[in-house]
Amino acid sequence: MEMSREGIDLLKECLTELEQEGKLRQERDYMQHGTTSVYEHSIKVAYTSLYAVERMHLRVDRRSLVRGALLHDYFLYDWHENDKSHRLHGFFHAGAALRNAVRDYELNRIERNIIARHMFPLNLIPPHYKEAWIVCMADKFCAGSETMQPLFRRFREIW
Ligand SMILES: [Fe+2]
Ligand SMILES: [Fe+2]
Repeated sequence: MEMSREGIDLLKECLTELEQEGKLRQERDYMQHGTTSVYEHSIKVAYTSLYAVERMHLRVDRRSLVRGALLHDYFLYDWHENDKSHRLHGFFHAGAALRNAVRDYELNRIERNIIARHMFPLNLIPPHYKEAWIVCMADKFCAGSETMQPLFRRFREIW
């Protein structure tokens, strides 16, 4: 999956900006699926979203797309920990991520919608903007491949 030079630059720029302004780097301490940290997962989702936009020549607000994707799982806790407040993580983390993100960053409507709606259809309200639909789908795609990766590796070992 090759991305354009401008795409890579935009991704790096947004990442640096968000790391400096808030606590995005904290996501390195929390695991998402398999052996992938939330931080890595978020970069993958941003990359995949931007890649899809480039491939399909979609007219979107790329900057908001990338910023929203990078912050979509900004819930800042380890959801594998057996803590009462982390129960039903799937249902509630989009809300938690949004609360943290608006506390730490200045976000526009598209960026907020990306975070708030990325768990559709588990969360019933669908995304409102094109950008939010793209991140919602890129997230499913990345989560799927991250969960499957260790299984594939194991399979290859056995084989
Ligand atoms: Fe999520
Ligand atoms: Fe995610």
